[in-house]
Amino acid sequence: MTKRSIILGCGSYLPERIVSNAELAETVDTSDEWIVERTGIKQRHIAAEGQYTSDLALKAAERALAHAGVDAKDIDMVIVATTTPDNTFPATATKVQHNLGMVNGAAFDVQAVCSGFIYALSIADNMIKGGQAENIVVIGAETFSRILDWEDRTTCVLFGDGAGAVVLQAANGADPASQPGGSADLGDNRGRGILSTHLHSDGSTRDLLYVDGGPSSTQTVGHVRMVGKEVFRHAVTNLAGIVHETLDANGLSPADIDWVVPHQANKRILDGTARKLKLPIERMVVTVDRHANTSAASIPLALDEAVKDGRIQRGDLVLMEAMGGGLTWGSALVRW
Ligand code: ACO
Repeated sequence: MTKRSIILGCGSYLPERIVSNAELAETVDTSDEWIVERTGIKQRHIAAEGQYTSDLALKAAERALAHAGVDAKDIDMVIVATTTPDNTFPATATKVQHNLGMVNGAAFDVQAVCSGFIYALSIADNMIKGGQAENIVVIGAETFSRILDWEDRTTCVLFGDGAGAVVLQAANGADPASQPGGSADLGDNRGRGILSTHLHSDGSTRDLLYVDGGPSSTQTVGHVRMVGKEVFRHAVTNLAGIVHETLDANGLSPADIDWVVPHQANKRILDGTARKLKLPIERMVVTVDRHANTSAASIPLALDEAVKDGRIQRGDLVLMEAMGGGLTWGSALVRW
């Protein structure tokens, strides 16, 4: 029997502490005006001392499970997309698996920086299509504040901490896209599901955005380094490209998309991508002003917000896209 995956529920978590641009400007040589004008960011959430990526991930996963109405004991896979794991090993996902009370299944991390959630979603979708799992929790979780150089004003103002999660469930029937008018699945889930995912990377651009440490190279954790202007240039080009690739693969045009849920790096990147695609900015879910760039967590955080406030409705076509260090980039198209 052909399988497809449905996003059954979502959840997210942001640390309590909010740091405004003005507060940041007390210790960093910057200003609210500069940050808002260049990035659209007004504030970010920062994890408390002793609060780890796995703690944020657990809260997001619990909320997604509750929203999906699925019990943790029925989950057979946990995938955490993160650049800021609790430890070099074991995978943060194994800690989340344990803290969810799961004693079965598999858990592992995925590292594709800001594209991590899309990579993890694509892996999970293919695990379900291949019959290797029935219920998967996919989480994007970061404590990016821990790898920032707080003396480097060109990077430290851009990022924040947070986590978001979705619960994927196997449904019978092929991709709804290949079956106009619905799928073999009857009932509530007719026509829902992930239509396609698309992944890319180009390691020749890895020096544009990286961390200057790591277990094998320096035996230190390191800090984020970035050639901002170049990353910006690649982002608008690659993101417009991946959106076109996704639409072409599904025989769709930008007008068919109800919602774009982009990785939240910079409001100017979102505006530039929307302009290039001739897509009204009102159809983009924007959280970068309040969350800043939470790397792998930004898409599931934005998705959760738009689902819970009622913008994203059952049957809507939702396109998620991201670019991050590597450079990596990717997309996922979902019939909600
Ligand atoms: N506060 C005040 N001034 C600053 C700050 C700051 N935080 N940071 C840099 N400046 C100064 C610079 O020193 C420079 O001053 P100078 O002209 O006297 O030398 C001036 O502002 C302009 O600096 P630029 O680097 O040219 O500024 P730019 O317009 O390129 O904006 C930014 C920088 C916001 C980082 C931009 O390049 C950008 O958004 N790049 C994309 C990077 C990104 O979003 N990365 C996230 C990860 S990748 C992803 O998620 C897609």
